[in-house]
Amino acid sequence: MISYRKVVGKMKPYVPGKPIDEVKRELGLDDVIKLASNENPLGCSSKAKQAVINSLDAPSLYPDGNCTVLRWALCEKLKINPDQLIFGAGSDELLGMIPQAFLEPGEEVLTCTPSFPRYASATQLMGGTFIELPLNNHTFDLEALANGVTPRTKIIFIANPNNPTGTIYTQEEQRAFLEKIPPHVLVVLDEAYYEYVDDSNYPDSLAMLSDFPNCIILRTFSKIYGLASLRVGYGISSPTIISALNRIRSPFNVNTAAQEAAYASLLDDPFVKESYELNQQVKQNLYQTLNQMGLSYIPSQGNFIMMDTGKPSQMMFEKLLQKGIITRPGFYFGMDTYLRVTLGTPAQMNRFIATLRELLER
Ligand SMILES: Cc1ncc(COP(=O)(O)O)c(C=O)c1O
Repeated sequence: MISYRKVVGKMKPYVPGKPIDEVKRELGLDDVIKLASNENPLGCSSKAKQAVINSLDAPSLYPDGNCTVLRWALCEKLKINPDQLIFGAGSDELLGMIPQAFLEPGEEVLTCTPSFPRYASATQLMGGTFIELPLNNHTFDLEALANGVTPRTKIIFIANPNNPTGTIYTQEEQRAFLEKIPPHVLVVLDEAYYEYVDDSNYPDSLAMLSDFPNCIILRTFSKIYGLASLRVGYGISSPTIISALNRIRSPFNVNTAAQEAAYASLLDDPFVKESYELNQQVKQNLYQTLNQMGLSYIPSQGNFIMMDTGKPSQMMFEKLLQKGIITRPGFYFGMDTYLRVTLGTPAQMNRFIATLRELLER
């Protein structure tokens, strides 16, 4: 039998939100909604759709490995230089590449828990020691992370807003934290939900890059831009960090359809605005309804809410699934009575709430 690396034996596969077609087939349902993976319920920009269609004119050509057009557009929007930017097949690919490029076996990686599970697997694959500190009030505990740095610490993964809790820490807290972190420690600021944030205290990480060149900011086209299936995200950092990542990047990692759709999305601000406003409206309505129902929840800066149903999450997940509603059970994150629910359309949320009421009243 072929043996695999010892670390691979210890790793658990990522469990994604259940796909709609799988649930339809398994349960014999026609009408299934997915509120499990923090996708945009409006889909994507119509300009992005057209760009994908146009990109199919030349499928025989390799993609532009440099993502030139998208790179220039993003540089202009963010006021950064082209050598400060790297693209990935989702920010997920970049999360994997960071330990590959920077982590020696046995070096330590710090994060808080619960957060995005891919930080653990990316670390373990490279033989790193993964150290998880508890969140403080459902938020990344920057003080504990700074105190947790040892001579062996190499990378700190931070999600702000955090997934699954939707919480953020502030500009002042981030600056004070970065000032305490030695310059040889790479700080990953995962901002997948950046565009949804409405709190004016949210850090301006981009403006901090010149003072802290040991940071890399990760953002994505999967969330508010609605391009999750095409896989395109990006990292912004100092040219030194970007050039190290470029050495290990596979040459054609972002396909042409993804590049062109992402570029078209950057030109469609009204779509982003509409998505943001819908999210705000649905979020406020959901808060009101949950308050009326007497259910507690964690106020969110993302496009999802962690709510406490007071019942075992696996059971609630299964019951909602039987009714054609896919959610994320909190037990994955060690929060067993919680459900993580993506903010969908008003119609989807009405269906979710009606079903939740029915299940809780039984
Ligand atoms: C915090 C966080 N980071 C990164 C990602 C990865 O997103 P993508 O690979 O689609 O860019 C996700 C996806 O859910 C996320 O929640």
